[in-house]
Amino acid sequence: MKNGYLPIKSEILEIIQHTDIEYTFRMAYKGDVKPGHFFEVSIPKYGECPISVSGIGKDFIDFTIRRVGKVTNELHNFKVGDGFFIRGPYGNGFDMNDYKGKEVIVAAGGSGLAPVKGIIDIINDNQVEYKDFNLLVGFKSPEDILFKEELKVWEKDLKVILTVDQAEGDYQGNVGLVTQYVEDIEVDDKDNVAVVIVGPPMMMKFTVEAFLKRGIREENIWVSYERKMHCGIGKCGHCRMDDTYICIEGPVFNFSKAKHLYD
Ligand SMILES: Cc1cc2nc3c(=O)[nH]c(=O)nc-3n(C[C@H](O)[C@H](O)[C@H](O)COP(=O)(O)OP(=O)(O)OC[C@H]3O[C@@H](n4cnc5c(N)ncnc54)[C@H](O)[C@@H]3O)c2cc1C
Ligand code: FES
Repeated sequence: MKNGYLPIKSEILEIIQHTDIEYTFRMAYKGDVKPGHFFEVSIPKYGECPISVSGIGKDFIDFTIRRVGKVTNELHNFKVGDGFFIRGPYGNGFDMNDYKGKEVIVAAGGSGLAPVKGIIDIINDNQVEYKDFNLLVGFKSPEDILFKEELKVWEKDLKVILTVDQAEGDYQGNVGLVTQYVEDIEVDDKDNVAVVIVGPPMMMKFTVEAFLKRGIREENIWVSYERKMHCGIGKCGHCRMDDTYICIEGPVFNFSKAKHLYD
């Protein structure tokens, strides 16, 4: 029997730098993974932390990691050919069956683009299966934009609104919070829409409100929660909100359930 708690060592196949503190690590991996799943990533003597899957390919997965502390600082010293430990995939992930045939809208803030990148890749590769697709994504500044190359690819066929909170000089793009652009997304049939919102807590709160104000029903909105997690498998209770274990039942929730989750 496979022990889901046992870490395996995975080799770094490629490192893609996005900003000074955010890199994507392409890791050797064979197995079923879907967007929204996360792994516990560990380095002996430094610790362990949950990281979402930001890309899924044949025999590899991507992690897009911001250096903020013990594990992530150390990871950023690693090179191609080095390895670190991973265990997972954990969590429920996004169920693409919820979105097929619908006008799909993904609204992401900052590093929240990482866990939903897999959704965008799947829709981009299978466009006929979805009625429409809009990506609304915001970053703090032009220097903080992640996945610049991927954004160029997505913009060819998909509707993309990219905005930054603030920009200096002669920046030509959109400036303003994600919530300011919710109104600009064209919706044909409000009852056939699926909205996925992932980002910092405040961004998620106000973006959900903006879509509800547009008449999108709660059942048509999904969010993903980044809670403090330790075990990832429903044993330690660190991720619990009310009676819900985010690591097992989440991190992806329909908003009709998520709105009842409180610390
Ligand atoms: C489901 C899930 C998915 C996630 N996916 C991603 C992802 O895809 N990419 C990503 O980059 N992150 C992701 N995260 C967040 C990531 O797990 C955390 O940032 C994690 O804490 C990093 O571990 P670390 O050991 O590097 O940082 P830690 O050392 O644990 O530090 C984390 C934070 O705590 C602060 N801190 C540490 N020690 C102290 C102290 N003594 N006093 C005050 N503050 C302190 C640090 O400054 C930092 O802001 C995810 C989290 C969850 C729950
Ligand atoms: S992280 Fe341990 S119970 Fe969820």
